[in-house]
Amino acid sequence: MNPLTAPVDEPAKANSVPRKPLTVAIIGFGTVGSSVARILTEHAPEGLRLSYVFNRNFERKRKAADWISPIVQWTDNIEDILSSDVDIVVELVGGLEPAGTWIRRAVGSGKSVVTGNKQVVARYGPELVVQAHARGGHVAFGASVAGGVPLISGLQEGLAGDELVELCGILNGTCNYILTRIETSGISFAEALAEAQKFGYAEANPAEDVDGHDALAKLTILCRVGLRCAVGHTEIPTRSISIIEPIDFEYAKLLDCTIRQISRAEKTSGRLLASVEPTLVRRSSPLASVEGPQNLVMSTGKFGGETIFAGHGAGGNATAVAVVSDLISIVRLRQIGGVAIHENGLRHLPVSSDFTTRHYLRFMVKDEPGIIATLATIFAKAGINIDSVFQKPGFSASRLPFVITLEPCSTSLVEESLKQINQLPFLVQPCVALPILD
Ligand SMILES: NC(=O)c1ccc[n+]([C@@H]2O[C@H](COP(=O)([O-])OP(=O)(O)OC[C@H]3O[C@@H](n4cnc5c(N)ncnc54)[C@H](OP(=O)(O)O)[C@@H]3O)[C@@H](O)[C@H]2O)c1
Repeated sequence: MNPLTAPVDEPAKANSVPRKPLTVAIIGFGTVGSSVARILTEHAPEGLRLSYVFNRNFERKRKAADWISPIVQWTDNIEDILSSDVDIVVELVGGLEPAGTWIRRAVGSGKSVVTGNKQVVARYGPELVVQAHARGGHVAFGASVAGGVPLISGLQEGLAGDELVELCGILNGTCNYILTRIETSGISFAEALAEAQKFGYAEANPAEDVDGHDALAKLTILCRVGLRCAVGHTEIPTRSISIIEPIDFEYAKLLDCTIRQISRAEKTSGRLLASVEPTLVRRSSPLASVEGPQNLVMSTGKFGGETIFAGHGAGGNATAVAVVSDLISIVRLRQIGGVAIHENGLRHLPVSSDFTTRHYLRFMVKDEPGIIATLATIFAKAGINIDSVFQKPGFSASRLPFVITLEPCSTSLVEESLKQINQLPFLVQPCVALPILD
């Protein structure tokens, strides 16, 4: 029979849209929550119906959102949502509490939950997913890492056929902004941070971003989803970008590199290597051109090799797309009576940031004879080979910056040597040591 003229089969029952749409409650009508409501109103994916919006003092929000159907119920009482028969709670309040408690209660009462809350997912993700499945529900968190980039679904589903061994990327837009400003304007970290705060790119308390905690939560989630490793929410070592000075970009340029906050993880036979820290990246790497709210993650699979995910890591609409995509996935799963790939069977591996890598060491010294010889002796005793030495002219002898790069060696070996080096009297400040990503 000609397949082109053969009668078309009735669509399988499993693929048909359920007669009764799944009802949705948005909790948190802010940047992302209002964009989700807009997509559910204007794009109206099949099988979903927005039923509730929860926010404190919601009247001001309702007034501004006259495009929302009048049948949607607004409330500032979370019990109206948690005790309702709504099918899916979309949590977009943010922060650990009270959002964490609300998510747990929603899951406990058999509702599905979609969230963009990286803190809650990094801490409680695996247990929430298991609890939800036990009650026939789902927990989806595609918006919690890399905003609108379909990274979680790409790792969980698109690359499910591979065994991923490495993830490396840029997951925090505030750090991109600050580092790019130091690089392009030669301003200090403090000035770049103040500028980022003025333009609303950084919070009043910037530690979450610049000290790496935001990226840590995201990398923790990625290690579970992509590398299938059970990682606790504080296990991955982080280092602040606040140690970076304009001179580091000048020396990085001489090495044909730039500096970015890099989140990376590598599964080896006996351990998980992982860190979030400022890192030299080659100018030719896709990571070097990531700016502002852009995120980019490269995954490496044992069979499929390298895959790059990139796009808008933040922004109401981009992030809302990730949320609505998760809602659509839940509709599809409910249609086939399936369960999502969930987080059991994760491997427990000890976590360490002891990567073997090239290193960039920037010293700030009071000039005197014999500095290089002293440092070379310490490295030689530790079995570390020096690759190159750079010193730009024109600096005062009382604050002279110069750089040593090291051939690949373990980070712990370098740290051991630096304990000794940082005690030397000619050092004006502790050495800035950064890995070089090859
Ligand atoms: N924005 C992004 O680009 C982005 C990207 C990826 C992931 N996410 C994640 O998505 C979530 C939402 O982010 P967002 O940017 O949309 O935040 P947001 O603009 O601050 O929105 C949060 C909303 O929740 C409300 N809210 C906060 N605490 C509340 C409470 N205790 N009771 C009732 N309502 C409360 C806020 O009301 P008020 O207006 O009264 O404060 C606000 O409307 C967060 O987990 C965030 O990390 C955001």
